[in-house]
Amino acid sequence: MSGSPSERVPEAAGARVVVNRLAGPVPSGVLAEPSRDPLQFHRRLGGYRPTPLLRTPALAERLGVGEVVVKCESQRFGLPAFKMLGASWATYRALVDHLGAEPGAWQTVTELSELVAPMRPFALATATDGNHGRAVARMARLLGFGARIFVPENTTPGRIAAIESEGASVEVVPGDYDAAVARAAEEAGPSCLVISDTSWPGYDRVPRWVVDGYSTLFWEIDDSLAAAGWRRPDAIAVPVGVGALVAATINHYCRVPDDRPAVVGVEPSTAACVTASAEAGRLVTVPGPHTSVMAGLNCGTPSPVVWPIVSAGVDAFVTIDDDWTCRAVRDLAAVGVEAGETGAAGLAGLQALRHIGVPPELDGAIRCDATVLVIMTEGASDPLQWRRILGVELLGQDPPLRGERAVAAARR
Ligand SMILES: Cc1ncc(COP(=O)(O)O)c(C=O)c1O
Repeated sequence: MSGSPSERVPEAAGARVVVNRLAGPVPSGVLAEPSRDPLQFHRRLGGYRPTPLLRTPALAERLGVGEVVVKCESQRFGLPAFKMLGASWATYRALVDHLGAEPGAWQTVTELSELVAPMRPFALATATDGNHGRAVARMARLLGFGARIFVPENTTPGRIAAIESEGASVEVVPGDYDAAVARAAEEAGPSCLVISDTSWPGYDRVPRWVVDGYSTLFWEIDDSLAAAGWRRPDAIAVPVGVGALVAATINHYCRVPDDRPAVVGVEPSTAACVTASAEAGRLVTVPGPHTSVMAGLNCGTPSPVVWPIVSAGVDAFVTIDDDWTCRAVRDLAAVGVEAGETGAAGLAGLQALRHIGVPPELDGAIRCDATVLVIMTEGASDPLQWRRILGVELLGQDPPLRGERAVAAARR
């Protein structure tokens, strides 16, 4: 569209590519300089270990690039998504802020829980499409706090049950994710901290800490690439909901203008609020209902606090219908990666991009010898739905299949 800040490339088969005309130097001072403090914190939480970084030649061949490297967040602290990284660090920072000082010296989360015991009864609250709320609920449980989690009305029973399994109370809010965010905000008080991954006027410190917490994922990638002797990525594909994760990606990789990978943000066609904002040249809300199977991306409004970073740092957006991500779920299972519907969106976006045609602006980054990094953010967070997508019959309530078993099951 001439005259608009973003330019459309023709639609094809339920997908659209939008080159971001707002892209430019990433402003400094909006987010904190990348630091390893969150990583040191995460190492003290029980069960920390870096998640795998996998080379997938079969996917690279199909995408027509040199390498596809997949960061696999199928399991993080025993939860099926990367979200605990942000929820845990933001909770800790918010607690320190609430107390006015560090709670004391601690080395394990049990010790931390003992230090904050005098605060009880105390609660954490948030809105969620599923993963963030489960992570906040887990953090609350580890600290001996209550958790009040607010979900939009179309949240699947499987996701609600998963949050409840952390001991949280779950309230279904009439309306969409934005309505759940507004409801959760009402919980803030002397004995309840709201740990939101999205911001609103007057509330942006916690969402910044959420972004900082995600940095662990990128330090791990850097360390894995260096250890394996693999090249730094030429392009990175990231699923986008409110934009916090892609902001963390940009903050980590794109601070040096001439030495940065291209960033591709992927959204569901039905909840493409960041793409719509890029096209409009300002923050806009996309009305619901947001019904994509990519539940983690069913957001109607970008997070204002990360918008200056996201609008400058994303090179192109790809919006996709659910079919694209379902296919990517199966493709990832076939190479041994358990990817949920939201988690597979990054790969799905690249596949759609290849199908539509890589725009000239990305030609240099997504070329035949490029290394492309796919941030695969989630495993089978709703096992029933995941198995349906794989076409696997349900045999009782056994745990989700992993790796090789997923491949075998998908082929059966
Ligand atoms: C699995 C998963 N991937 C990606 C995202 C998108 O992250 P953000 O909302 O920070 O853009 C979410 C958000 O909830 C998610 O749950």
